[in-house]
Formats: sequence, C-alpha cells, structure tokens
Amino acid sequence: MQNFVFHNPTKIIFGRDTIGRIGPETKAGGCRRVLLVYGCGSIKRNGVYDAVAASLAESGVAAVEHPGVRSNPVLSHVRAGIALAKEEQVDGVVAVGGGSVLDSAKAICAGALVEHDVWQFFKGKKPIRKALPLFTVLTLAASGSEMNGGMVVTNEETRQKFGTANTLLHPRVSILDPTATCSVPADYTAYGAVDAIVHILEFYCTTASAEPTAIQDRISEGLIESIMAACDRVLADLQDYQGRADLMWGATLALNGLTAAGRGPVGLPMHMIEHSLSALYDVPHGAGLAVVAPAWMAHRAERDPVRIAQLGRRLFGLNNVADDRQAALEAIARLKAWFAASGCPVTLHELGVPEDDISQIAANALGLAKIWRLREYDEAEISAILQRCR
Ligand code: NZQ
Ligand code: ZN
Repeated sequence: MQNFVFHNPTKIIFGRDTIGRIGPETKAGGCRRVLLVYGCGSIKRNGVYDAVAASLAESGVAAVEHPGVRSNPVLSHVRAGIALAKEEQVDGVVAVGGGSVLDSAKAICAGALVEHDVWQFFKGKKPIRKALPLFTVLTLAASGSEMNGGMVVTNEETRQKFGTANTLLHPRVSILDPTATCSVPADYTAYGAVDAIVHILEFYCTTASAEPTAIQDRISEGLIESIMAACDRVLADLQDYQGRADLMWGATLALNGLTAAGRGPVGLPMHMIEHSLSALYDVPHGAGLAVVAPAWMAHRAERDPVRIAQLGRRLFGLNNVADDRQAALEAIARLKAWFAASGCPVTLHELGVPEDDISQIAANALGLAKIWRLREYDEAEISAILQRCR
C-alpha cells in the first residue's frame, strides 16, 4: 500500500425521485442565477428537463440556458458558454446530461473566472485556481465525471481531444437517479459500461508498485464483475431499475479516485489513444475504448502479463492456466468477447475508422501522451498498439 490522500468533496444524492433536489441543493450552495447546461434534446424527451426546471424555479434559482452540448464536446461550444456565463453574471452552473455535458460545464466553471482562453487549461499552460460551483443531474452511466475533477474537450481547430483535472472542478452535488438513465439506448448503455470498466483497468494494469495492492485489486475486480453483470441485466431489459442503479453507481466508483488510491503512480494510456479516435472520427468514447483496450492489454501482456493474468484468474476463473502470458491472453479474449456480445465494435473497421490512418492517429495521440507525461509512448509504440486493433 503506497501513501495517498483521498479527498472527494462531491455530495452524491442517489436513488428514485431525487431530481427534485437540484433546486434546493443549488440554492443551499448559494446560487441564485445559474447557467443551465445540457445536450441536444434527450432530457426534453425523457422528462428530466421539466423536473429540473420546475425544481430550480420553485427554489427561486433563475436559469440561463446553454443547450446543445454534443457528444465528444467541442471547444467552440464551451467558449460560447463562458461568454454567456460572464455576460449573464451567473453565480453557478447546473449540468444535466452525460459526461459530455458535465465536462463542458466544468470547463465553463473554470473559464468564466479568467480572462485567458480556456484551452490554456487543457494544454497545461495555465493552472486552475478558481471555478464557479457546479451542480449536476446525471443521465448516463459512464464517465464518472459526476464525482471527479476531470474534464475532456475537443479543440475542433487543432483536432485535439485533451483532458485535465482539478479538485476545484468536482461538482458540489451530483444527483444520480437511475430512472433518468432508462432512456439510454442499448448501444450507449454498453459503451458506458465499457468506459467504466476501462477506467478501472487503466489503474489496475498500470500499477507498478512493488508493494501489494490487495484492497485496490479486490475493489477493482468486484466493480468490473458487477458492472458486467449489471450491463447484461440492462441489455436484457432497458427498464431494469436495479441493473441501471448498479451500472450508475459502479461507473461513478470506477473513476472517483477510490480504485487508484494507494497504487502509487498510474496512467491512462488506453484513454490517451482513444481520445484521438474520438477527436478525429467523432466516435463514441466507450466504443473507441472497446477497440483500443484489448489491443493495449495484449501489447502490455507481451512485456508484463502478471497483472492481467491475475485479473483473468480472479474474474474469469482461469486458475488452471499456470502460464501468466497464456492466462493474460485468455483474459483479454474473454473481455473482448464480452465487449462484442454487448454490441460494441472491437476493430477499427467495425468502428468505422480507416486502418490506413493508423500513423495519423498515432501522431495525434502523441500530443496527449506528452501532456500526460506518458513517456514510454512514442509514435511507433502507439502505432504498434493500433495495429492490434485491426
Ligand atoms: O445530447 P443528448 O441529447 O443528451 O444525447 C446524449 C448523447 O447523444 C445521449 N444521452 C445522454 N443521456 C441520455 C441520452 N440519451 C437518452 N437518454 C438519456 N438519459 O447519449 C449520448 C452520449 O452522451 P455523452 O454525454 O457524450 O456520453 P458519456 O456520458 O459517455 O460522456 C462521454 C464524454 O465523457 C468524457 C469522454 O471523453 C466523452 O467526451 N469522459 C470524461 C471523463 C471525466 N470527466 O472524468 C473521463 C472519461 O474517461 C471520459 O473521457
Ligand atoms: Zn473514459
């Protein structure tokens, strides 16, 4: 167990009929005039918008709307939100949607309080020292953005999709009502489960600590197993509340710091590569990970199969496979088969990405590898991993 500080300031309100808490919580947070950030219409169709608007109005919190956040959110829309937040002199932000909406809102919270361009935060050129208070209502179980300080935005001009994090960007309060996710279609339900699973795998597989990480590993393995089971339930019945609830809480726990604490330095190499697929081809984040993760894991297993072999023995019962490399490769094959059975693409071709573009994708990903200080990844290494996505 390595030394660590675990500080997660986000208050979670979880369960049925909790969306009406957004007004009182935003008011209690000191806000009277907020920017209401949301996507391209799903919340208008599933009733979440009406519940949020009514709750804010009943609490006397005025809402200035900033709709239109796209999946894989773009910098131009964030900049417009910052301009609106400044012009309307809002004192907080309410985000209602999935990870794209919450991340855009975080960028607006930080960008609204500085004079420089918000992209400077993503390039690591400017530190985040203050942010407007953020309150969220989550409608898609995937990113974990509801309980972390991370945000990911695409700069359409440079075709870069960069992520950064800061504790100041943690939502003050996030409301997680699983019924709000019942309108998520099967494909995005599966993509969300893959995203959450890969968040856990990133830290599990990149743990280099010589000291044991028994607690972290068991939490991680249990979360992966539960998320897979919950996803299977929901794909069998999209209205399955308990399945939706497990998916939602599992995705939140997957990236709120819990599974990483005590592991020592870890990284997000699979995300580093996937963000380029989403930046260049606008593919859903979880779909891109379903292609990249098995390839990265197979590449890692060549050099260091121990962690993945342990996952295979504990998750897929491969105790009879003594050789670590064999156990690791079998574990990867099982995971990839589950991704495919859940309706996810598992090759670049199935994702709709031209295999001839591998060198362009690798060059794009290298930009994020440098910012994230993933020093072992050069273009050749990233290309070699992408070749395994064919
Ligand atoms: O825009 P609307 O109409 O709402 O449609 C959305 C969108 O088209 C739809 N949707 C959301 N909730 C729904 C719904 N449809 C029906 N019913 C509902 N209840 O789903 C589509 C995808 O939404 P999006 O927010 O893009 O999905 P997700 O939550 O997977 O977020 C993906 C974004 O999160 C970032 C990714 O990079 C990507 O940009 N991530 C953020 C992280 C973080 N902050 O820590 C970490 C993650 O690794 C990830 O990178
Ligand atoms: Zn992710």
